Order: sequence, then structure tokens, then C-alpha cells
Amino acid sequence: GGQKKPKLGQIKFKPIEPSSKDDLILPRGYQYNVIAAYGDQINQKGDTFGFNNDFTLYFPIDQSNGSERGLLWVNHEYVSDLFVFGKENDEYSKEQTKTFLYNQGGSIIEVYEEDNSWKMDTTSKYARRVTGLTEIDLTGPAKGSDAVNGSTKVQGTFANCSGGRTLWGTLLSCEENYEDTAEAAGLDETHYGWVVEVDPFDPNFRVRKHTALGRFNHENASVGLSKDGRVVVYMGDDKKDACVYKFISDGKYNEKVGKNNSQLLSKGTLYAADLSSGEWIELSIEAVREAAKNDKELLDKFKTQADVLVHTHDAAILLGATPTDRPEDVEISPFDGTVFVAHTNNDKHGNIHGHITRFFENNGDHGSLEFQFSIFAAGGIQSGFSAPDNLTFDQYGTLWTVTDISSSKQNKKVWKPFKNNGMFAIPTSGPQEGEAFQFASAPIEAELTGPSFTPNERSLFLSVQHPGEETEDLSKPTSMWPHRPGDKMPRPAVVAIRGF
Ligand code: FEO
Ligand code: CA
Ligand code: CA
Ligand code: CA
Repeated sequence: GGQKKPKLGQIKFKPIEPSSKDDLILPRGYQYNVIAAYGDQINQKGDTFGFNNDFTLYFPIDQSNGSERGLLWVNHEYVSDLFVFGKENDEYSKEQTKTFLYNQGGSIIEVYEEDNSWKMDTTSKYARRVTGLTEIDLTGPAKGSDAVNGSTKVQGTFANCSGGRTLWGTLLSCEENYEDTAEAAGLDETHYGWVVEVDPFDPNFRVRKHTALGRFNHENASVGLSKDGRVVVYMGDDKKDACVYKFISDGKYNEKVGKNNSQLLSKGTLYAADLSSGEWIELSIEAVREAAKNDKELLDKFKTQADVLVHTHDAAILLGATPTDRPEDVEISPFDGTVFVAHTNNDKHGNIHGHITRFFENNGDHGSLEFQFSIFAAGGIQSGFSAPDNLTFDQYGTLWTVTDISSSKQNKKVWKPFKNNGMFAIPTSGPQEGEAFQFASAPIEAELTGPSFTPNERSLFLSVQHPGEETEDLSKPTSMWPHRPGDKMPRPAVVAIRGF
């Protein structure tokens, strides 16, 4: 109360300088506290918080007092052999396979605000894990098809990077770099690389993978509505020379049916963006077979719509969608409905600092099949950021982005001035439109991921992922963040930042 609010397109903190310190550095007036770190117990059953936390999403428990107690979903993207097993592994024993699958997926924790910080309530009746061991249903055209070797259910979710919020109170968690884990665990690769839906409040809601949204290295999923009421999901495929996608449901969103709206994600049309023509290209089996008509190998590969959904990238390229510079988060601005895409970088084309692209759908309709776009902000020494990754917005139309310069590059030449990874606020309107202001600096070799605000925007949840990831000798970790008493190694952890 009583604090001065910025106007649209303004920021209200004093930006920080890049830092090499082994801490989460914030502007004056802001504080953070650790809510949960790798290995912490999250419930009475003894479940523990997984490794390399990423995407976060807050769900108020008491709608009338939403910003004081809620559930926090947290993705767990992958596992460090060194910090989880004590050494680098070539092969995993049965027990180790279980451990590394358990430590990926997601955590549902109950959090509350007390004494100027956020705490985890381990007596929560909701707190639980979704892991690489959880039984998960497939939905949509590829369910039970030959393309997934007939499966209707699969084992587990892993490589969970970013995600999104549905309009009906559930969350989407995206399987990104699933290949290594699937191989190490001896699991069927066609079962991974999907968008997964979870209801944080209901353990009886079957966790599901929506095959209609395609299979690729899914970064995130941003949900909106077309002007005629169909559900639209924007998605990035975080690979070099990969495409930007959107899914449009056949049916229309109906608030009255609540979580049954989930069915909308099993039937619809998948599109990929053609940036040279400004068109969304429909990925249909008919079009793919027509484009492949002189190629026997491709005709064998693409027989049904399920094949298109399982080999989405190949289908999109075949149909003329534009390969882009590693599309990570794709987010709809709640301010004006424009769509922002973080193209993090692509050294194949010398785009080493990346950029953020802004899509303008025709008539401002997310259901439109035509769009314009422009480069909203470019990474580099002038803007002060490099390798934009996750995106989120506040009520002033400010875009918040976190950066992901890989640890191995941070001390090299062109990346050196940026120091540790950071978080930046970029107004999307007003005199400072497109200008980046540094808000946070990560601990050594960490990446800040998954920023999300509480509804009143007084608190921000943020993941600190892979601090000290270049450590080779466990007795000499390169980072000791979060510097908790008794800890002998760094720990990925989710924090709450207050002071907004
Ligand atoms: Fe897991 Fe594209 O970041
Ligand atoms: Ca990411
Ligand atoms: Ca990244
Ligand atoms: Ca990451």
C-alpha cells in the first residue's frame, strides 16, 4: 500500500549492473528468500523437491485472499549426475535410473506468505510430485496409433522446461530435450516431446500428454482465445533452425464446463509459422503427402495425421514453415494480445545474442491465419542482454525476460561483459519501449528460469537453475548458492522475490 505505481511502459526499480557474484543480486528495496531447494521434503509422505527447477506457476488457494497462500507448480528439467549421484555416469543402474527419473517432472508445493517471506507448508494435502515414473495418458490423434507404437498410456514425464496456464485452472508443462533421458532409461522416444497437462489441486485428474499439440523440443505453451472462442496455444521448438507453432481447437471454450475444457486440446489443427509470407501453415497429412509425393522414404514416414504429430518439425519444414533461431518462450501479452517470441540465439547464423520477435495477428485475432511481425528487441552489448529465454508480463505491459548464456561461454570474449545470467524488464510501450533494464543477476553458472508473479504482483517466483554446473570436483564446487548452513554443494532452488 501507498507505494508509487509506475505508468504503463515505465519501470520503477533502479537497474543493477552485471555481476559475477555467487548470489542472486537484486535492486535496492527488493529481497529474496529460498522456498524449496533440491532434495527438500515437500509433504508428509516424504516426497522431495526435484533437480534443476524451471517453469513456475502460482495458483491461489483462497480466491478472496489469493496472494497469501497458494499452490506453486515447479518444473524439474534434468539432473546433474555429479550433484545427484556424486559422479559422472556412463550407465545407470536400475536404482539410479529410478532416481534420475524421480528428480525430473514437476513438484506441486503449498506456499504461504508470512513475516515478509514465502514458506513451504509441508503439511499440505495437495503437495505431491509428478515424475518420470508417473503413469500418464495420451490424448488426441496419436493416442494408440502406430506412430507411438500403439500406446494409450506412457511412463512419466521429463525434460520439463517451461509451460503455461490454461483458462480452466490447470497447467501445461513442456517436454523439451527428452532424447538423452529416454535413451538412458531405455524408454520409447516417441512417448516424449509432448505438452503435458496437470491439475495441481486434483490428484485424481489423470496427467495427460496432448498429442494434437505436436511432438518436438517443446519450450512452453501460451494459451489464448480466438475471437470466435476457440482455444489457441502458441509454442516454441527450442532447436536451432526450428519453427514457431500454434494449435487451434475445433471446439469453443465454455467456462461452465470447467476442467472438461481440457478435451479441447485433443481435437484441433496444428500450424507452423511461415515468416516469409506471414501465414500460418496447416500441418495436415494431406498436405504433407502432397509435398512428399515423389519421395518414397517420406511417404513411408508420413501415412497418417499421427505421423505428422510425432514428426512435427519434419512436416513443418517440408510444408515451407520458416526455420528460426531457437524459439524458446512464446507469450501472449495480456496488455495488447501481441505475441512475443524469444529467439535465444543461433550460432549457425552468427546470431549469438538472440532477439525477441513480436507477432501481430491480423485483426488482433489469435485465430487468424495471417500475421505481421517485427524484431522487438535485439540482444547485444547495446541492449545489455544476451540469449533471452523465458518471458512473462506484468500489468504495466512490461515484458520480463531471463537470459541463458551457457556457462561455458560466460567468460569468453563477446559474452564477457554480460557476466552472470540475469533478468531484465523491457517496457512494451511508451518512451522506453524495447529498452532493457537489468533487475537480477544469477549466482555463478546459474540460469534464472520460470519467472511468475502472484496475482497482486507484489511477489515474483523465480527458479535458480544449475548453480555451479561447471563443477568438476565435488570438494571444490564453483558455486555454493544458496549458501544454506550445512550444505556441501550448490542446489537449484525456487525463490520468492518481494518489494514490488
Ligand atoms: Fe530448457 Fe529451451 O530451455
Ligand atoms: Ca528454457
Ligand atoms: Ca535456453
Ligand atoms: Ca535450462
